[in-house]
Amino acid sequence: MTANAREPKPPQPLDQAAADAVNAVYHLYDPPLWLVTAAESPAAGSTRGGCIATFVARASIVRDRPRMLAGIARQHHTWRMIEASRRFALYLLPASALALVWRFGLASGKQVDKYADLPDTRTPLGNPWVDGPIAWLDCQVEQAMSTGDRSVYIAAVTGGGALANAAEPLTAGGLMALAPTDKRAELDRLYARDGGIDAAAIDAWRASHTG
Ligand SMILES: Cc1cc2nc3c(=O)[nH]c(=O)nc-3n(C[C@H](O)[C@H](O)[C@H](O)COP(=O)(O)O)c2cc1C
Repeated sequence: MTANAREPKPPQPLDQAAADAVNAVYHLYDPPLWLVTAAESPAAGSTRGGCIATFVARASIVRDRPRMLAGIARQHHTWRMIEASRRFALYLLPASALALVWRFGLASGKQVDKYADLPDTRTPLGNPWVDGPIAWLDCQVEQAMSTGDRSVYIAAVTGGGALANAAEPLTAGGLMALAPTDKRAELDRLYARDGGIDAAAIDAWRASHTG
């Protein structure tokens, strides 16, 4: 560590070599994919949203006070739904539910209704229920923090369970291995597009949070 490492300077983007080195760390583990659903309100018929997320983690070790952490991009339709209702549901998916990844992870609910052909079934908290996952959690937001590109939510888990079709959860690495060429190209394109949007949002956030 250098002498000036403690100076409160705003962080700068990494150069290519450092970014590559950091990226290698992320390739050492393989996070599960979560389907995140939320609705404008718990009322049946209210607008529904949903997206795929890897930025999800268990956030409490207390058995009867479970919490989850989720980071959702502020540009997403699903983010708008969570902001409106302060609730969301989380689902783990089996490899056989790849179609749910394409449905919820490629397009935006701002452009298409991802539920157009699905019944309006809800969880006890009023979040959209989706058939096909291996497990579900109903979550109520307790705290939200904006990081510019995302809102990071700490949420109380109010219910959930593993479903009868228990299987290994689909992971980010598993998705890339299973994705046909056209879908893989689309995932790469969206990743690059969203990275550009997030970079600008992080820079704007840093500019407004540092002197
Ligand atoms: C493998 C994978 C992981 C993703 N992880 C996240 C994530 O952690 N947080 C997030 O906000 N979006 C994530 N996304 C992007 C959203 O799922 C995607 O942009 C979605 O189309 C947004 O839909 P919406 O605008 O209808 O909410 C991920 C997508 C994929 C395919």
